[in-house]
Amino acid sequence: MTVTVIAGAQWGDEGKGKVTDYFTLKSDAVIRVQGGNNAGHTVVIDDEKYELHLVPSGILHEEKPAMIGDGVVINPAVITGEIKNLKSRGISCANLKISPRAHVVMPYHVALDEMREVRPGKFHIGTTKRGIGPVYADKAARFGIRVGDLLDRGEFELKLRHALTEKNVLLREVYGNPGCDPMRIMGEYLEYARELAPYVIDPLPIVRDILQKGGNLLAEGAQGTLLDIDHGTYPYVTSSHPIAAGACLGTGISPRAIDRVVGIVKAYLTRVGEGPFPTELTDEMGEDIREKGGEFGTTTGRPRRVGWLDLVLLNYVNQINGFDDIVLTKLDVLDDLDEIKVCVAYNFKGDRIKFPPGDLGRIGECEPVYQSLPGWNAPIGEIANYNDLPENARKYIEFISKTANVPISHIACGKKRRQMIPVE
Ligand code: GDP
Ligand code: IMO
Ligand code: MG
Repeated sequence: MTVTVIAGAQWGDEGKGKVTDYFTLKSDAVIRVQGGNNAGHTVVIDDEKYELHLVPSGILHEEKPAMIGDGVVINPAVITGEIKNLKSRGISCANLKISPRAHVVMPYHVALDEMREVRPGKFHIGTTKRGIGPVYADKAARFGIRVGDLLDRGEFELKLRHALTEKNVLLREVYGNPGCDPMRIMGEYLEYARELAPYVIDPLPIVRDILQKGGNLLAEGAQGTLLDIDHGTYPYVTSSHPIAAGACLGTGISPRAIDRVVGIVKAYLTRVGEGPFPTELTDEMGEDIREKGGEFGTTTGRPRRVGWLDLVLLNYVNQINGFDDIVLTKLDVLDDLDEIKVCVAYNFKGDRIKFPPGDLGRIGECEPVYQSLPGWNAPIGEIANYNDLPENARKYIEFISKTANVPISHIACGKKRRQMIPVE
């Protein structure tokens, strides 16, 4: 029996979708852990590209259960659209299972997220405006509507009307928004409920069964550790727990059942939205990497901020997650650089530090100390064996592994499923 957790090690978009698809090959089932359609996970098989926001990235292995855990927040308009889209491309969603305990993103959550985002200066987070903060806030306030409620018309109407007594005052009085009409939402959401009903199946008994039979289960996280609401760069974070421990919270899997935590690390760093980013490149080099890496948001299309890999942050992220191994992605994007820099320490208040300050929000005050490594100036996209990689590429990989003190198990060298090199 193994439970493997896929956790983003940066600010998201590390390539979790590709890695989840690849690891599902050796798993009996996959379960998405947290987040909502703020996530955008890309899977490319041959020439087919799939952009998934809510449906687990293991869905392309149609015969295996692809489950959505309690910790995920679901916008029914988005998931029904995703299911239709997958089906129109010949992907059966017959094994999709959605937890009845997952919370539902309502139109007022999206409206509130949008309205709060127009706030000025430091109060601007740069969210995806998908209602994620407001829906998790309602969940914590025990004011939320869950997928199970959607399937019960009476319960849904009661909870919706109760929520609107507060939300409409907020929308109208604070934000000058016309507010939400309960009948309109009812009409729309009950139609989604009808479409989703066949997929609303509790994942817990399936998880139990797989584990009792000694099977392999994959837990797919969204976002990345530095966006964790407690352990990230607060307040420039998301509203859930993208760290490995979030896999237990979001699925009900015991921490004792987890035997492998895989960190997904991009060979450089990106961030979307506001917040500190010590190794950010605002020059031509940054633009060059953004173009080569196609660093534009899968969800919002925003250009991603780009920078050098930061091993100070990786040390911290590894402490929080306890990675067994790392999958290093997008190494091919660095193929034609003469020199690659890696941040190995920070200068902070006259000290040289290898772990970030306790208040991660203060990394904006840190000055990165770089080590330069020579590039390899050769395409690696078609290489299948680790030992066939150029020597300087191997040196880069080995430097990261040694400095971060974590084995690197795979190198992703292109978008496609087959472009994955196991490290011997
Ligand atoms: P996720 O949110 O962590 O699943 O990552 P995204 O899918 O948002 O962003 C990763 C992007 O990089 C996607 O467009 C992937 O197709 C692409 N990608 C993933 N791995 C690699 C790789 O090794 N090389 C290249 N060139 N692209 C990759
Ligand atoms: P995947 O799963 C990158 C960022 C937003 C914003 C902050 C808060 O594809 O890696 P939110 O809408 O969650 O309230 O926004 O978090 N963010 C992501 N950045 N990848 C993601 O997901 C993200 N999900 C949220 O840009 O800075
Ligand atoms: Mg993404």
